[in-house]
Amino acid sequence: MKEILITGGAGFIGSNFVRYVLTQRPEARVTVLDKLTYAGNLANLAGLPEERFSFVKGDICDAALVEKLVKKTDLVVHFAAESHNDNSLLDPRPFLDANIIGTFTLIEAARKFNKRYHHISTDEVYGDLELDDPARFTETTPYQPSSPYSSTKAGSDLLVRAWVRSFGLAATISNCSNNYGPYQHVEKFIPRQITEILEDRRPRLYGSGQQVRDWIHTEDHSSAVLLICEQGEIGETYLIGADGERNNISVVREILRIMGRDENDFEHVNDRAGHDMRYAIDPTKLRTKLGWTPKYTDFAAGLKDTVEWYKENRDWWQPQKAATEAKYKKGGF
Ligand code: NAD
Ligand code: DAU
Repeated sequence: MKEILITGGAGFIGSNFVRYVLTQRPEARVTVLDKLTYAGNLANLAGLPEERFSFVKGDICDAALVEKLVKKTDLVVHFAAESHNDNSLLDPRPFLDANIIGTFTLIEAARKFNKRYHHISTDEVYGDLELDDPARFTETTPYQPSSPYSSTKAGSDLLVRAWVRSFGLAATISNCSNNYGPYQHVEKFIPRQITEILEDRRPRLYGSGQQVRDWIHTEDHSSAVLLICEQGEIGETYLIGADGERNNISVVREILRIMGRDENDFEHVNDRAGHDMRYAIDPTKLRTKLGWTPKYTDFAAGLKDTVEWYKENRDWWQPQKAATEAKYKKGGF
């Protein structure tokens, strides 16, 4: 698969995937289609080899543009989405447009030109687990999304499944847990806390902070997605996770320790409406069927590298910071 169309490639995970593919597959050429919403940033794609990389600014809901780009590609990897739960609680409409209509537009084009399609999704489609539940999410866990964001991601997965069954679309789906690493927007939990500390404010924990997320380094997400694109079975879903369950309060304390602060120097703020308690991925299928293993198994070390990245890249995050905090202030967080 030489020509790869990557949607949402100017966002956090998409841009990390673009760099990963160009490094790992010297024969590949990548085109990124991205609308450059508040979450997209061309700086995330700086320095890529011109002869193997091109960027198109545009909307995945624009059927004519999408058809033109899909027609000349071998593989579509679809990352583009409205991705933040808190935003979906303030204004759900853009989530329906990007996540539902955008996905519909892409799979219609992939169907028309008979192209291989990989759909990036999230573990949030399965809803949440109790803290003491011994179970983790598997590929057969029923869908039970909680938020406007996760319900639109669930809807997009169901569209892909229907296109596989009804039209024979050559698609795979992956549902990944919480990513961390460089280039993540400062609205998200880990970068928000790091940059709050760098701006001499205290980290903000929603509610009790007992909620659990299953952290994976974004490069491990990339290696899993590339493997699924190349060796995954058509029509199959793969869950991506790296056994990284941590509660939010312990993550905040770890960040404070890494940054040389008192580990209790944080604030509790309003809880998120409908806040999911726990996500946990059972990655057995991906590990046993495709032989995938994560590289970043030491969360504290990965977090330390991430803190360093934000320390060294103030120019990258500073322009987003004030507007992000203003939005949080309006929402009471
Ligand atoms: P992000 O918000 O950082 O980036 C999203 C990108 O999509 C941005 O560059 C934005 O400009 C682009 N985009 C949005 N709407 C668009 C449209 N209509 N047309 C074209 N481009 C558009 O998101 P992220 O955190 O990198 O997430 C990427 C994907 O991975 C999403 O599908 C998300 O649901 C999924 N995912 C994220 C996580 C996580 O922890 N962040 C975990 C699992 C799955
Ligand atoms: O599980 C995968 C999902 O992970 C992805 O599908 C989403 O795109 C991604 O945003 C992420 O969703 P979460 O809602 O889990 O991530 P977020 O970074 O917003 O929050 C992580 C946890 O931290 C959650 O329990 C809420 C809490 N939180 C968040 C912020 C921003 C805080 O306690 N304080 C904060 O300031």
